[in-house]
Amino acid sequence: MFYPAIRKVLFQFDAETIHELTIKGLKSTGSTPLNALYKQRVTNKPVTVMGIDFPNSLGLAAGLDKNGECINAFAAMGFGFVEVGTVTPRPQAGNPKPRIFRLPEANAVINRMGFNNKGVDYLVSQVRAAKFSGVLGINIGKNKDTSEENAKDDYIHCMRKVYNFASYITINISSPNTPGLRSLQYGEALNELLSALKVEQAQLEKQYNKYVPIAVKIAPDLTEDEVNSIAISLIDNNIDGVIATNTTLSREGVEGLEYGNEQGGLSGAPVKDKSTTVISLLAKALNDKLPIIGVGGIASSHDANEKLAAGASLVQVYTGFIYQGPPLVKEIVNGFKV
Ligand SMILES: Cc1cc2nc3c(=O)[nH]c(=O)nc-3n(C[C@H](O)[C@H](O)[C@H](O)COP(=O)(O)O)c2cc1C
Repeated sequence: MFYPAIRKVLFQFDAETIHELTIKGLKSTGSTPLNALYKQRVTNKPVTVMGIDFPNSLGLAAGLDKNGECINAFAAMGFGFVEVGTVTPRPQAGNPKPRIFRLPEANAVINRMGFNNKGVDYLVSQVRAAKFSGVLGINIGKNKDTSEENAKDDYIHCMRKVYNFASYITINISSPNTPGLRSLQYGEALNELLSALKVEQAQLEKQYNKYVPIAVKIAPDLTEDEVNSIAISLIDNNIDGVIATNTTLSREGVEGLEYGNEQGGLSGAPVKDKSTTVISLLAKALNDKLPIIGVGGIASSHDANEKLAAGASLVQVYTGFIYQGPPLVKEIVNGFKV
């Protein structure tokens, strides 16, 4: 693989320009013979989680393929599952640019994208066109101009639209870039949201005659008490899985670096231990009642196995993949114990 050489060229450009070009390239080649440019054979390491059979435990984390345009391309790289989104009911532009910053000295990224996406109807059209037969997570959120009180309606709107096309649905309540979103992680607001989603899930199960699990994605910036209280809500509401974690508001590990003071969520190496701590706390509090998908700072097979050892059943990568490309997928999958 020649990713290090490609990366050198790519990293000469602004992060979002490269992101857009990459998505375009992957979109146009994913289902064609040109996918040989990045297609890889990885060992089959099947696992069953949330009642779903995964070919391996490594997934692409949400936010890279926000509109579901490159599902087949990422699957060709060897990911055992692909999570697309976050998608919102209506298209929205997100925050003003620049809004994504690379911090190579720290193997990190800071982003304040703000759920830029083409809306749930466009995403569904892309998923239909992909005719993908692998495991697909669809991550849903709320529009920026929807109030916290009405957030539930946005999640339900998206859930209805994506239900028949998703292997599982992720409820994102942990992006730091949509004002008020993270407050849905606490107390009554969380219980109200989760119970409404379960009622909707039961109706959709009847309508489509299939059960699509719901996973909730949480932040790394939580105290032990907060993690415990979230765990109780997840269990009480019969939620199917939890994804830990999203990006952090902390700037530990990037102090003094160029872009280190930019606003937004920090990902990559600096979030690794925070995310593993949340996974360990969750594992203790959940006591195997629901599975954990571990994400945050994974940049090697060792890091991935560390998340599994802390209690995760599956893992996902984003920032590590930006820095290392497809070879990281192969390294991690081949390094899973069977
Ligand atoms: C540029 C960027 C955009 C992201 N967008 C989303 C998103 O739309 N929804 C979401 O749930 N997580 C999003 N994330 C968070 C990642 O899915 C992941 O949880 C986080 O970055 C930690 O993993 P990592 O250290 O492997 O990147 C985004 C991360 C980055 C770097």
